[in-house]
Amino acid sequence: MRYYPRVYDALFSDPEGMSQYHRFLVELGVSGPLLDVACGSGDLLLLLQEKLASDGLDIDEVMLSQAAQKGVKGELFQRDFTLPWDIDKQYQTVLCLGDSLNYLSSLDQIRAFFNEVMKHLGSDGRFVFDMHSKDRLDEFEEEYLEEAVVDDLALTWSVNTVQNQLVHRFYFYDGKDYPSIEEVVQTVFASEEIEALLEEVGFKFRVVTDFSLAGYQVGEKYFYICERGIK
Ligand SMILES: C[S@@+](CC[C@H](N)C(=O)[O-])C[C@H]1O[C@@H](n2cnc3c(N)ncnc32)[C@H](O)[C@@H]1O
Repeated sequence: MRYYPRVYDALFSDPEGMSQYHRFLVELGVSGPLLDVACGSGDLLLLLQEKLASDGLDIDEVMLSQAAQKGVKGELFQRDFTLPWDIDKQYQTVLCLGDSLNYLSSLDQIRAFFNEVMKHLGSDGRFVFDMHSKDRLDEFEEEYLEEAVVDDLALTWSVNTVQNQLVHRFYFYDGKDYPSIEEVVQTVFASEEIEALLEEVGFKFRVVTDFSLAGYQVGEKYFYICERGIK
């Protein structure tokens, strides 16, 4: 049993941040049916489903059962997004937000993922994803450390940069002789490499930094708003 999905909402749930994502998508005019890839515990789906038919995909069954308990109405697919999705549906919008693309660890995985998105996207559909900017690597050169207690479970969470990866380490003090340690690794890719893969797979796209700044700017996240290109 992993503790990480059980403490995820307590540590990271951010209603204001989620509303900002939601507003961004509404302003883009995204349409349904929609698939939120790496939907986590479903907070964005809850906002989107008010107007659009919205499904979710995530690898983690605990996250998905939390999403269902919160009232997500669409289909929830338990899938590993590094593999073929095996979903017999097409979507007008495919999302992959909250730095979830950074859970892919190689350019080959990204290429396969973009191809899978393309396969599930309607002819005039849109694919919107974000990823950590390269500035994030500088930010965590110095280790970030946080302590918390979630439902009586004490934990510490650290983040630091190792080459082009952000390594999140969670120590759970669950009463055993040693803490249980879980690691989440996010790989930060160069924007040129992502652009080359989007073009190779057949997407045209534009880039926005931190929700509102056109193009690549100093900031936390780059957003890519993609449509089928000429291929
Ligand atoms: C940072 S959370 C983002 C959740 C949500 N999109 C949000 O913005 O709050 C990343 C999510 O990616 C999921 N994930 C990680 N690796 C995955 C994989 N190989 N396949 C599918 N989902 C994965 C995790 O279970 C987690 O729910």
